[in-house]
Amino acid sequence: MLNIKADLHRILLGRNQEWSERMKKENPELFTELAQHQKPFFLWIGCADSRVPPNQITGTMPGDIFIHRNIANMVVHTDMNMLSVVDYGVNALGIDHVIVCGHYGCGGVKAAMGAEFGGPSGSWVRHIRDVGRFHHEELRSIADETERFDRLVELNVAEQVYHLSRTAVLRDAWAKGRKIQVHGWVYSLNDGLIKDLGVTRDKYENEVGAVDVD
Ligand code: CO
Repeated sequence: MLNIKADLHRILLGRNQEWSERMKKENPELFTELAQHQKPFFLWIGCADSRVPPNQITGTMPGDIFIHRNIANMVVHTDMNMLSVVDYGVNALGIDHVIVCGHYGCGGVKAAMGAEFGGPSGSWVRHIRDVGRFHHEELRSIADETERFDRLVELNVAEQVYHLSRTAVLRDAWAKGRKIQVHGWVYSLNDGLIKDLGVTRDKYENEVGAVDVD
């Protein structure tokens, strides 16, 4: 971990040069290939948290994962930034595996368990409060606060997987016969391991109790 008070940008640029040299030595074709095109196999929607870097924690390389990150790995229905990434990833890059990866100890989820606050981040966190409200009975039954926090992290991921499955991009792709899977994962800051929540969706389906009629 870096702990530097001054000249941070010089240190990063220096590290970039070292990294570039190392990569060229290990795989002389890498940059030539990546400069031509990208063919990532995964679309990642993750938290902006600095401790959850997608490539490092999955042992992948530049070119492997198409990435969108925001606070608490949210799929907000009107977020054109996220929707454009999903559209481009699915339709232009032909990606068949979408991963929503949350993490235990998520500050965004923690904030949703506390008092209301203002500013853009306060509004953003409202979406997570809604997840808590949808599942208030289950959450209320968990006495231990850490366990309740962990469970809200998981429920939030499952909810965002569900949101993705309702996007026009995914619905259209499935209607055309594309075999796209949307997975829900949670990363642990404690041991660096990812848990598959088993909430994968691979088709459009109506929900019991949902008001959707199509
Ligand atoms: Co987070």
